[in-house]
Amino acid sequence: MNKYAVIGSPIDHSLSPQIHSIFAQEADIEISYEAIEVNKENFKIKVDELLNKGYLGLNVTLPIKEEAFNYAEVKSENASLSESVNTLSFLDSSIYGHTTDGDGLLSDLSEKGFVLESSSVVLLGAGGSAKSIIPSLLSKKPKNLFLINRTREKAENLVNRYKTHFPQIELLEELNSEISVDIVINSTSAGTLGEDIFLPENLFNSKPKVYDLAYSKSETPFNLRAKKEGSREVYDGLGMLIHQAALSFEIWNRFKPSTKGIEKKIRP
Ligand code: ATR
Repeated sequence: MNKYAVIGSPIDHSLSPQIHSIFAQEADIEISYEAIEVNKENFKIKVDELLNKGYLGLNVTLPIKEEAFNYAEVKSENASLSESVNTLSFLDSSIYGHTTDGDGLLSDLSEKGFVLESSSVVLLGAGGSAKSIIPSLLSKKPKNLFLINRTREKAENLVNRYKTHFPQIELLEELNSEISVDIVINSTSAGTLGEDIFLPENLFNSKPKVYDLAYSKSETPFNLRAKKEGSREVYDGLGMLIHQAALSFEIWNRFKPSTKGIEKKIRP
């Protein structure tokens, strides 16, 4: 039986085992897929161990995507651009690293009617999650991709990194009347940490469509706030989780699973 797992910390409540088991049923492939606690400190020991035990692939979640990037010997283009790996594939004695986060997000955004092309997009946060999706967002040629982050330098570093090839990426601290925001994407960990989020004033005035990378049983705190301040269409990141998993499954099994109806089935 082909062995896979999702690794990260905390990992107890991961929905990935359930999602991959639905995909495997559809593909008629027998797999085992576990959730295994791995942190930054024990990353190498644990992953070496799984590799030696014959695991064929690992999904990697927070907070160890950068460790996975460093561990991979051969990196996909998106992984190299974002310095993030969420899918390890052990094949022919090599360790391949991919990131399916950005393209998983694009698939879900498109399914939910978001049009990035020529839109003004605000991305909140400049941590690991933001890094993993920026190359995919830019590939859709938005009119602007404004980065906003509590710690200015982090957003500034990301802007500087992409600016030469993608002049539409910009640092934003305050909104002014010339900017009408079409789409807001929240990649900060404020909600997960149970903290109030620092936001520029009037962010939701133009009633942008909102996508929170986080997801929860009830509306996320960010989406609640967006609605209160004017947005009508808000989505959480469960769809992205499913789409990024489908892309990982395809990398490992060369089978593209259907993602239809899974969100309803697995919503906690
Ligand atoms: P992740 O891998 O989830 O992106 P991370 O790399 O630790 O986690 O990044 C977390 C992001 O959420 C950062 O951009 C962080 O802002 P800082 O760079 O200022 O630390 C942002 N963040 C966390 N708590 C926040 C809060 N209460 N308000 C606004 N931004 C917050």
